[in-house]
Amino acid sequence: MKNATITGWGACIPQPVVTNEELASVVDTSDEWITTRSGIKERHVSHVQNSDMATLAGKRALAAAGLDASDIDYVIVATCTPDRQIPSTACYVQIKLGAVNAAAADINAGCTGFIYGLSMAHGLIATGTASRVLLIGSERITAYLDLEVRTTAVLFGDGAGAVVVEATDQPVGIQSMTLGSDGAGAASLTATGLGTEFIGTDARLAVVMDGSDVFKNAVVRMGDSTITATEMAGWTADEIDLVIPHQANVRIIDAVRRRLKADESKVFVNIHKYGNTSAATIPIALSEALAEGRIKPNDKLVLVAFGAGFTWGAAAFTWGDRVEPISTIDDELPEPTTTGLDIMVQRQVAFQS
Ligand code: UT7
Repeated sequence: MKNATITGWGACIPQPVVTNEELASVVDTSDEWITTRSGIKERHVSHVQNSDMATLAGKRALAAAGLDASDIDYVIVATCTPDRQIPSTACYVQIKLGAVNAAAADINAGCTGFIYGLSMAHGLIATGTASRVLLIGSERITAYLDLEVRTTAVLFGDGAGAVVVEATDQPVGIQSMTLGSDGAGAASLTATGLGTEFIGTDARLAVVMDGSDVFKNAVVRMGDSTITATEMAGWTADEIDLVIPHQANVRIIDAVRRRLKADESKVFVNIHKYGNTSAATIPIALSEALAEGRIKPNDKLVLVAFGAGFTWGAAAFTWGDRVEPISTIDDELPEPTTTGLDIMVQRQVAFQS
Protein backbone atom coordinates (compact mmCIF):
# COMPACT_ATOMS: atom_id res chain seq x y z
CA MET A 1 0.00 0.00 0.00
CA LYS A 2 1.33 3.43 -0.96
CA ASN A 3 1.88 6.19 1.56
CA ALA A 4 0.51 9.68 0.85
CA THR A 5 2.69 12.75 1.31
CA ILE A 6 2.57 16.46 0.50
CA THR A 7 4.94 17.54 -2.27
CA GLY A 8 3.53 20.97 -3.13
CA TRP A 9 1.83 23.76 -1.25
CA GLY A 10 0.55 27.27 -1.89
CA ALA A 11 -1.96 29.87 -0.75
CA CYS A 12 -3.99 32.67 -2.27
CA ILE A 13 -5.00 35.58 -0.08
CA PRO A 14 -7.20 38.18 -1.81
CA GLN A 15 -5.73 41.69 -1.54
CA PRO A 16 -8.61 43.63 0.11
CA VAL A 17 -8.12 43.85 3.90
CA VAL A 18 -10.63 44.91 6.53
CA THR A 19 -9.16 45.82 9.92
CA ASN A 20 -11.10 45.49 13.15
CA GLU A 21 -11.35 49.28 13.36
CA GLU A 22 -12.84 49.46 9.86
CA LEU A 23 -15.30 46.69 10.65
CA ALA A 24 -16.33 48.49 13.83
CA SER A 25 -17.53 51.37 11.64
CA VAL A 26 -20.33 49.15 10.26
CA VAL A 27 -20.73 46.41 12.91
CA ASP A 28 -21.67 46.97 16.56
CA THR A 29 -18.25 45.89 17.88
CA SER A 30 -14.78 47.13 18.76
CA ASP A 31 -11.15 46.26 18.01
CA GLU A 32 -10.71 45.59 21.73
CA TRP A 33 -13.56 43.02 21.86
CA ILE A 34 -12.49 41.18 18.69
CA THR A 35 -8.81 41.10 19.70
CA THR A 36 -9.30 39.91 23.26
CA ARG A 37 -12.07 37.37 22.49
CA SER A 38 -10.64 35.89 19.29
CA GLY A 39 -7.10 37.10 18.55
CA ILE A 40 -8.19 38.46 15.15
CA LYS A 41 -6.83 41.86 14.03
CA GLU A 42 -7.85 41.85 10.36
CA ARG A 43 -9.30 39.65 7.63
CA HIS A 44 -9.21 39.58 3.82
CA VAL A 45 -12.35 39.92 1.70
CA SER A 46 -12.38 38.41 -1.76
CA HIS A 47 -13.11 40.49 -4.86
CA VAL A 48 -13.04 37.34 -7.04
CA GLN A 49 -14.93 34.05 -7.07
CA ASN A 50 -13.99 31.27 -4.66
CA SER A 51 -12.80 29.17 -7.62
CA ASP A 52 -10.41 31.97 -8.69
CA MET A 53 -8.70 31.93 -5.29
CA ALA A 54 -8.71 28.12 -5.29
CA THR A 55 -7.21 28.00 -8.78
CA LEU A 56 -4.34 30.36 -7.93
CA ALA A 57 -3.56 28.48 -4.70
CA GLY A 58 -3.65 25.27 -6.78
CA LYS A 59 -1.27 26.71 -9.41
CA ARG A 60 1.18 27.69 -6.68
CA ALA A 61 0.99 24.21 -5.14
CA LEU A 62 1.57 22.59 -8.54
CA ALA A 63 4.64 24.79 -9.14
CA ALA A 64 5.97 23.94 -5.68
CA ALA A 65 5.59 20.23 -6.54
CA GLY A 66 7.18 20.73 -9.97
CA LEU A 67 4.06 19.33 -11.65
CA ASP A 68 1.81 20.28 -14.53
CA ALA A 69 -1.96 20.45 -14.05
CA SER A 70 -2.30 17.49 -16.44
CA ASP A 71 -0.37 15.33 -13.92
CA ILE A 72 -3.23 15.55 -11.41
CA ASP A 73 -5.66 12.61 -11.08
CA TYR A 74 -8.15 14.22 -8.74
CA VAL A 75 -9.06 17.77 -7.70
CA ILE A 76 -10.77 18.03 -4.31
CA VAL A 77 -12.03 21.40 -3.12
CA ALA A 78 -12.98 21.57 0.54
CA THR A 79 -15.45 24.42 0.85
CA CYS A 80 -18.79 25.42 2.32
CA THR A 81 -18.99 28.57 0.17
CA PRO A 82 -19.01 27.22 -3.41
CA ASP A 83 -19.31 29.48 -6.46
CA ARG A 84 -22.57 27.64 -7.18
CA GLN A 85 -24.35 24.65 -5.68
CA ILE A 86 -24.14 22.93 -9.07
CA PRO A 87 -21.58 22.19 -10.42
CA SER A 88 -18.90 21.74 -7.81
CA THR A 89 -16.27 24.44 -7.37
CA ALA A 90 -13.72 21.69 -8.05
CA CYS A 91 -15.02 21.46 -11.64
CA TYR A 92 -14.44 25.20 -12.14
CA VAL A 93 -10.94 24.79 -10.73
CA GLN A 94 -10.33 21.74 -12.94
CA ILE A 95 -11.04 23.69 -16.13
CA LYS A 96 -9.30 26.90 -15.00
CA LEU A 97 -6.16 24.90 -14.21
CA GLY A 98 -6.36 22.67 -17.29
CA ALA A 99 -6.30 19.54 -15.12
CA VAL A 100 -7.48 17.54 -18.13
CA ASN A 101 -6.87 14.11 -16.57
CA ALA A 102 -8.50 14.80 -13.23
CA ALA A 103 -11.72 13.81 -11.52
CA ALA A 104 -13.18 16.69 -9.53
CA ALA A 105 -15.43 16.98 -6.49
CA ASP A 106 -16.13 19.26 -3.53
CA ILE A 107 -16.32 18.23 0.09
CA ASN A 108 -18.21 20.16 2.76
CA ALA A 109 -17.26 19.38 6.33
CA GLY A 110 -17.32 23.01 7.47
CA CYS A 111 -14.04 24.15 8.94
CA THR A 112 -12.86 20.50 9.07
CA GLY A 113 -13.10 20.22 5.27
CA PHE A 114 -9.38 20.20 4.64
CA ILE A 115 -8.77 17.36 7.13
CA TYR A 116 -11.67 15.36 5.64
CA GLY A 117 -10.25 16.07 2.17
CA LEU A 118 -6.86 14.83 3.31
CA SER A 119 -8.47 11.57 4.43
CA MET A 120 -10.06 11.24 0.97
CA ALA A 121 -6.71 11.89 -0.74
CA HIS A 122 -5.12 9.31 1.57
CA GLY A 123 -7.75 6.72 0.66
CA LEU A 124 -7.56 7.44 -3.08
CA ILE A 125 -3.79 6.98 -2.98
CA ALA A 126 -3.78 3.93 -0.68
CA THR A 127 -6.24 2.11 -2.95
CA GLY A 128 -4.37 3.09 -6.12
CA THR A 129 -7.34 5.06 -7.48
CA ALA A 130 -5.14 8.16 -7.76
CA SER A 131 -1.42 8.92 -7.52
CA ARG A 132 -1.56 12.71 -7.39
CA VAL A 133 -4.37 14.61 -5.72
CA LEU A 134 -4.69 18.39 -5.66
CA LEU A 135 -6.45 19.19 -2.38
CA ILE A 136 -7.61 22.78 -1.93
CA GLY A 137 -9.33 24.42 1.03
CA SER A 138 -10.98 27.58 -0.24
CA GLU A 139 -13.64 29.86 1.20
CA ARG A 140 -15.39 33.08 0.30
CA ILE A 141 -17.26 33.06 3.58
CA THR A 142 -17.50 36.83 3.98
CA ALA A 143 -20.23 36.55 1.32
CA TYR A 144 -22.37 34.70 3.89
CA LEU A 145 -21.97 37.24 6.67
CA ASP A 146 -24.76 39.47 7.89
CA LEU A 147 -23.14 42.57 9.36
CA GLU A 148 -26.02 42.80 11.84
CA VAL A 149 -25.05 39.41 13.33
CA ARG A 150 -22.00 40.65 15.18
CA THR A 151 -21.15 37.33 16.83
CA THR A 152 -20.07 35.92 13.45
CA ALA A 153 -19.54 38.99 11.21
CA VAL A 154 -16.25 39.75 12.97
CA LEU A 155 -14.79 36.23 12.94
CA PHE A 156 -14.49 35.10 9.34
CA GLY A 157 -12.31 35.93 6.33
CA ASP A 158 -11.64 34.73 2.79
CA GLY A 159 -8.70 32.81 1.33
CA ALA A 160 -7.46 29.58 -0.17
CA GLY A 161 -4.69 27.09 0.46
CA ALA A 162 -3.69 24.06 -1.58
CA VAL A 163 -1.50 20.99 -1.34
CA VAL A 164 -0.44 18.32 -3.81
CA VAL A 165 -0.76 14.91 -2.16
CA GLU A 166 1.34 12.26 -3.91
CA ALA A 167 1.87 8.52 -3.55
CA THR A 168 5.24 7.51 -2.15
CA ASP A 169 7.04 4.36 -1.04
CA GLN A 170 8.99 6.35 1.56
CA PRO A 171 7.85 6.13 5.21
CA VAL A 172 6.74 9.80 5.15
CA GLY A 173 3.45 11.64 4.89
CA ILE A 174 0.22 10.68 6.65
CA GLN A 175 0.97 8.39 9.61
CA SER A 176 -2.53 8.32 11.07
CA MET A 177 -5.88 10.04 10.81
CA THR A 178 -8.84 10.34 13.14
CA LEU A 179 -12.22 11.82 12.13
CA GLY A 180 -15.56 12.32 13.82
CA SER A 181 -18.92 14.03 13.61
CA ASP A 182 -21.94 14.84 15.77
CA GLY A 183 -24.96 16.20 13.91
CA ALA A 184 -26.56 17.07 17.26
CA GLY A 185 -24.43 20.22 17.03
CA ALA A 186 -25.94 21.28 13.69
CA ALA A 187 -27.89 24.24 15.05
CA SER A 188 -24.90 25.59 16.98
CA LEU A 189 -23.09 26.63 13.80
CA THR A 190 -25.09 27.03 10.62
CA ALA A 191 -25.88 29.29 7.69
CA THR A 192 -29.45 30.42 7.19
CA GLY A 193 -31.03 31.67 3.97
CA LEU A 194 -29.27 29.30 1.55
CA GLY A 195 -30.39 25.79 0.68
CA THR A 196 -33.65 24.08 -0.23
CA GLU A 197 -34.95 24.35 3.32
CA PHE A 198 -35.22 28.12 2.85
CA ILE A 199 -36.95 28.25 -0.53
CA GLY A 200 -40.10 30.30 -0.16
CA THR A 201 -39.08 31.70 3.24
CA ASP A 202 -37.81 35.17 4.03
CA ALA A 203 -34.83 33.89 6.04
CA ARG A 204 -31.85 36.23 5.83
CA LEU A 205 -28.48 35.01 4.63
CA ALA A 206 -26.25 34.77 7.70
CA VAL A 207 -23.82 32.55 9.55
CA VAL A 208 -25.30 32.03 13.00
CA MET A 209 -23.52 30.43 15.89
CA ASP A 210 -23.88 29.54 19.53
CA GLY A 211 -20.34 30.71 20.21
CA SER A 212 -19.85 29.21 23.64
CA ASP A 213 -21.22 25.77 22.61
CA VAL A 214 -18.92 25.73 19.58
CA PHE A 215 -16.01 26.95 21.70
CA LYS A 216 -16.43 24.24 24.35
CA ASN A 217 -16.80 21.46 21.78
CA ALA A 218 -13.87 22.73 19.71
CA VAL A 219 -11.53 22.71 22.70
CA VAL A 220 -12.44 19.12 23.66
CA ARG A 221 -12.61 17.65 20.14
CA MET A 222 -9.43 19.31 18.87
CA GLY A 223 -7.54 18.29 21.99
CA ASP A 224 -8.83 14.70 21.86
CA SER A 225 -8.18 14.41 18.11
CA THR A 226 -4.62 15.66 18.45
CA ILE A 227 -3.88 13.14 21.19
CA THR A 228 -5.59 10.26 19.32
CA ALA A 229 -3.74 10.94 16.03
CA THR A 230 -0.45 11.25 17.92
CA GLU A 231 -0.95 7.95 19.76
CA MET A 232 -2.11 6.17 16.57
CA ALA A 233 1.16 7.27 14.94
CA GLY A 234 3.11 5.81 17.86
CA TRP A 235 4.37 9.23 18.94
CA THR A 236 4.33 10.96 22.30
CA ALA A 237 3.01 14.52 22.55
CA ASP A 238 6.47 15.95 23.21
CA GLU A 239 7.79 14.40 19.99
CA ILE A 240 5.50 16.66 17.92
CA ASP A 241 7.55 19.37 16.21
CA LEU A 242 4.64 21.56 15.10
CA VAL A 243 0.87 21.53 15.50
CA ILE A 244 -1.01 23.31 12.71
CA PRO A 245 -4.48 23.84 14.15
CA HIS A 246 -7.58 25.25 12.51
CA GLN A 247 -7.58 29.00 13.18
CA ALA A 248 -10.98 29.87 14.67
CA ASN A 249 -10.01 31.52 17.94
CA VAL A 250 -6.60 32.00 19.52
CA ARG A 251 -8.11 30.99 22.89
CA ILE A 252 -9.18 27.61 21.44
CA ILE A 253 -5.69 27.10 20.01
CA ASP A 254 -4.16 28.02 23.35
CA ALA A 255 -6.38 25.57 25.23
CA VAL A 256 -5.27 22.76 22.89
CA ARG A 257 -1.64 23.80 23.34
CA ARG A 258 -1.96 23.74 27.14
CA ARG A 259 -3.56 20.30 27.03
CA LEU A 260 -0.52 19.04 25.09
CA LYS A 261 1.78 20.85 27.56
CA ALA A 262 3.52 22.29 24.51
CA ASP A 263 5.21 25.66 24.40
CA GLU A 264 4.07 28.39 21.99
CA SER A 265 6.83 27.70 19.44
CA LYS A 266 5.23 24.29 18.74
CA VAL A 267 1.85 25.63 17.64
CA PHE A 268 1.40 27.70 14.49
CA VAL A 269 -0.85 30.77 14.79
CA ASN A 270 -1.74 33.26 12.06
CA ILE A 271 -5.38 34.03 12.93
CA HIS A 272 -4.53 37.69 13.64
CA LYS A 273 -4.00 38.24 9.88
CA TYR A 274 -6.86 36.30 8.32
CA GLY A 275 -9.56 35.50 10.85
CA ASN A 276 -11.30 32.16 10.40
CA THR A 277 -11.06 31.15 6.72
CA SER A 278 -12.88 27.87 7.49
CA ALA A 279 -11.57 24.99 5.35
CA ALA A 280 -8.68 27.17 4.14
CA THR A 281 -7.00 27.87 7.49
CA ILE A 282 -4.81 24.76 7.65
CA PRO A 283 -3.38 24.80 4.10
CA ILE A 284 -2.77 28.58 4.37
CA ALA A 285 -1.02 28.04 7.72
CA LEU A 286 0.98 25.11 6.35
CA SER A 287 2.20 27.22 3.39
CA GLU A 288 3.18 30.06 5.72
CA ALA A 289 4.91 27.72 8.17
CA LEU A 290 7.05 26.39 5.30
CA ALA A 291 7.81 29.88 3.96
CA GLU A 292 8.88 30.95 7.47
CA GLY A 293 11.19 27.94 7.94
CA ARG A 294 9.03 26.57 10.77
CA ILE A 295 8.98 23.08 9.19
CA LYS A 296 12.24 21.12 8.88
CA PRO A 297 12.89 17.91 6.92
CA ASN A 298 11.30 14.88 8.62
CA ASP A 299 9.44 16.99 11.20
CA LYS A 300 6.48 15.43 12.97
CA LEU A 301 3.35 17.53 12.41
CA VAL A 302 -0.22 17.30 13.64
CA LEU A 303 -2.95 19.02 11.59
CA VAL A 304 -6.21 19.36 13.53
CA ALA A 305 -9.60 21.00 12.98
CA PHE A 306 -13.15 21.38 14.27
CA GLY A 307 -16.13 22.82 12.46
CA ALA A 308 -19.80 22.99 11.58
CA GLY A 309 -21.69 19.72 11.76
CA PHE A 310 -20.12 19.27 14.25
CA THR A 311 -17.14 17.70 12.52
CA TRP A 312 -13.57 17.23 13.70
CA GLY A 313 -10.40 15.42 12.79
CA ALA A 314 -6.64 15.30 12.93
CA ALA A 315 -3.73 13.90 10.94
CA ALA A 316 -0.29 12.94 12.23
CA PHE A 317 2.11 13.68 9.40
CA THR A 318 5.83 13.15 8.91
CA TRP A 319 7.19 15.80 6.55
CA GLY A 320 9.54 14.66 3.77
CA ASP A 321 13.05 15.88 2.88
CA ARG A 322 12.09 18.93 0.82
CA VAL A 323 10.90 22.10 2.53
CA GLU A 324 11.52 24.41 -0.45
CA PRO A 325 9.24 24.68 -3.50
CA ILE A 326 10.64 23.20 -6.72
CA SER A 327 9.49 26.35 -8.51
CA THR A 328 7.27 29.39 -8.06
CA ILE A 329 4.97 31.37 -10.36
CA ASP A 330 4.34 35.10 -10.80
CA ASP A 331 0.55 34.90 -11.28
CA GLU A 332 -1.54 37.20 -9.07
CA LEU A 333 -5.26 37.88 -8.70
CA PRO A 334 -6.53 40.92 -10.62
CA GLU A 335 -6.24 44.23 -8.78
CA PRO A 336 -9.37 44.99 -6.74
CA THR A 337 -11.34 48.05 -7.79
CA THR A 338 -12.87 48.70 -4.38
CA THR A 339 -12.00 48.31 -0.68
CA GLY A 340 -12.70 45.23 1.39
CA LEU A 341 -15.13 47.15 3.58
CA ASP A 342 -17.05 48.37 0.52
CA ILE A 343 -17.33 44.78 -0.75
CA MET A 344 -18.85 43.70 2.58
CA VAL A 345 -21.21 46.66 2.81
CA GLN A 346 -22.37 46.44 -0.82
CA ARG A 347 -23.09 42.75 -0.39
CA GLN A 348 -25.09 43.46 2.75
CA VAL A 349 -27.22 45.98 0.89
CA ALA A 350 -27.71 43.67 -2.11
CA PHE A 351 -28.50 40.47 -0.18
CA GLN A 352 -30.49 41.78 2.73
CA SER A 353 -32.75 44.29 1.01
O1 UT7 B 1 -14.36 27.16 13.07
C1 UT7 B 1 -15.19 26.64 14.03
C2 UT7 B 1 -16.21 27.62 14.28
N1 UT7 B 1 -15.99 28.70 15.15
C3 UT7 B 1 -15.45 28.67 16.38
O2 UT7 B 1 -14.80 27.75 16.80
C4 UT7 B 1 -15.72 29.85 17.25
C5 UT7 B 1 -16.08 29.42 18.66
N2 UT7 B 1 -16.53 30.47 19.54
C6 UT7 B 1 -15.79 31.55 19.83
O3 UT7 B 1 -14.72 31.75 19.31
C7 UT7 B 1 -16.29 32.49 20.90
O4 UT7 B 1 -17.39 31.92 21.54
C8 UT7 B 1 -16.69 33.89 20.37
C9 UT7 B 1 -15.44 34.65 19.93
C10 UT7 B 1 -17.64 33.75 19.20
C11 UT7 B 1 -17.37 34.69 21.46
O5 UT7 B 1 -16.54 34.81 22.59
P1 UT7 B 1 -17.15 34.61 24.05
O6 UT7 B 1 -16.09 34.96 25.00
O7 UT7 B 1 -17.73 33.23 24.09
O8 UT7 B 1 -18.27 35.73 24.11
P2 UT7 B 1 -19.83 35.54 24.35
O9 UT7 B 1 -20.46 34.91 23.15
O10 UT7 B 1 -20.02 34.86 25.67
O11 UT7 B 1 -20.30 37.03 24.45
C12 UT7 B 1 -19.82 37.86 25.51
C13 UT7 B 1 -20.42 39.24 25.32
C14 UT7 B 1 -21.93 39.25 25.17
O12 UT7 B 1 -22.41 40.39 25.84
P3 UT7 B 1 -23.06 40.27 27.31
O13 UT7 B 1 -24.23 39.34 27.15
O14 UT7 B 1 -21.99 39.71 28.19
O15 UT7 B 1 -23.44 41.67 27.63
C15 UT7 B 1 -22.14 39.45 23.67
O16 UT7 B 1 -23.34 40.10 23.38
O17 UT7 B 1 -19.89 39.85 24.14
C16 UT7 B 1 -20.98 40.33 23.32
N3 UT7 B 1 -20.58 40.23 21.93
C17 UT7 B 1 -19.91 41.18 21.29
N4 UT7 B 1 -19.48 42.40 21.68
C18 UT7 B 1 -18.82 43.14 20.78
C19 UT7 B 1 -20.75 39.17 21.09
N5 UT7 B 1 -20.21 39.46 19.90
C20 UT7 B 1 -19.67 40.68 20.00
C21 UT7 B 1 -18.97 41.51 19.10
N6 UT7 B 1 -18.54 42.71 19.54
N7 UT7 B 1 -18.66 41.13 17.84
